[in-house]
Amino acid sequence: MAARKTPQITLDYNNVLTSAVGKSHGLTAAAIDGIAAKAPRIAALLAAQRAAGKLPYRDLPYRDDHAKAIAASVARKRGRFDNVVVLGIGGSALGATAIYTACAKPYASLLDKKQRKSPRLFVMDNIDPAQFAAMLETIDPARSLFVPISKSGSTAETMAQFMICRELLKKRLGAKYARNVVAITDQAKGYLRPIAEQEGYETFPVPDGVGGRFSVLSPVGLFPLAMVGIDIKALLEGAAAMDRRCETPRLRENPAFLSAAIQYLCYQRGKPMSVMMPYSQALRDVADWYRQLWAESLGKIRTRGSKSECVGPTPIKALGVTDQHSQVQLYREGPNDKVFTLLAVGDFGCDIAIPKAFGDVEGCGYLGGHTMGELMDAERRATTFALTKSQRPNVTITLPVVNEYTVGQLLYMLMVQTSFAGELLGINTYDQPGVEEGKIATYALMGRKGYAAARKEIRSLKGSRKYIV
Ligand code: PA5
Repeated sequence: MAARKTPQITLDYNNVLTSAVGKSHGLTAAAIDGIAAKAPRIAALLAAQRAAGKLPYRDLPYRDDHAKAIAASVARKRGRFDNVVVLGIGGSALGATAIYTACAKPYASLLDKKQRKSPRLFVMDNIDPAQFAAMLETIDPARSLFVPISKSGSTAETMAQFMICRELLKKRLGAKYARNVVAITDQAKGYLRPIAEQEGYETFPVPDGVGGRFSVLSPVGLFPLAMVGIDIKALLEGAAAMDRRCETPRLRENPAFLSAAIQYLCYQRGKPMSVMMPYSQALRDVADWYRQLWAESLGKIRTRGSKSECVGPTPIKALGVTDQHSQVQLYREGPNDKVFTLLAVGDFGCDIAIPKAFGDVEGCGYLGGHTMGELMDAERRATTFALTKSQRPNVTITLPVVNEYTVGQLLYMLMVQTSFAGELLGINTYDQPGVEEGKIATYALMGRKGYAAARKEIRSLKGSRKYIV
């Protein structure tokens, strides 16, 4: 393996221990030992689920068939497109955004067409008509590849977006329009698959049993990312390297299990809020992707016997250093109900010297001669220090560099962490029944056949206009 691919991410958990943040807010070695004792059983359970094909996301790093088919497709399209437009929402969109922000050069899409090395990426994960219209005005549809991504093919947002784009393409390109569409959907089920077959689109599968928020390493993330120049081979190699680290049932050697244990113990000890705070602009959208993974997987009604209770930590995304001037006041002096995960970067790949100037101005002269990277690092360490001093438990995950290989490790670790945390919480990590009610109400309000009863129920809600000022 090439040297550039070997850096390994690390998890520093010193500052969640009682020795750092005190007895009231810290974790004892005994508490961690308690979870360590459960880890072999959970590891065996997860391994059995994997062997039985029930955790197919775990095997995505090894799906050479996906990687090869995607590489061939990307090669066939070389030079044909200036834009790749992903149409999708939730797990169909957040992963591609997270990896693109992390691994593509910032502002690449603002470069002149001749200077750009790859097509621009637009991930349309909302249905704000003003934003969507602006996107359509910005691109030339004939030079754009539209990628509807929907496992079910019935997600109203994605299908509405797709119907608009299809109409536009048909007007512009006539019968040949299908060459500008690649659909990513369930292999056999759902509504998008038959449409794709009927209209003759190229397709890639969302593998069976892989839910949206666990699909980033499937064609859902890989195809659009490969189209815009991301090294998906390195991404998968990074994920596979983390998979090997996650094989051990020994909690303190398994970063995903250990991180889940810390989150779980803090949750149990009055810290239902979990803040992820990357000290890296590139990792900003990883926190957004993780927020969905953690919330949709773990926020559940847990039923044990006749007792039901609502469980799940609340993930919060923040950004260092920006949110030091927005959130950190609350994080230090507000309720001590949070556990913090800081994402640190060892080497930003470049640095900028702060020029020596204003030597006689005490308030800023001291900065001269340092670098922007030094300032970023100092601010992260300062926040860690300040949080610890006010007894706020925090861990730091460090990426030696930010590239496809390390981001692959990080995302895979966070997915396994979620699986392990789900077992600790005793819930079904992989369903999302709570999302359904809103989907059904939307279908009803938009006139979908078969939803008359829901429509009636919504209309029967009295007094909804009474308290508006
Ligand atoms: O993680 C999930 O399962 C969800 O966020 C889905 O990805 C999201 O609801 C979109 O669903 P679909 O891919 O069916 O359009």
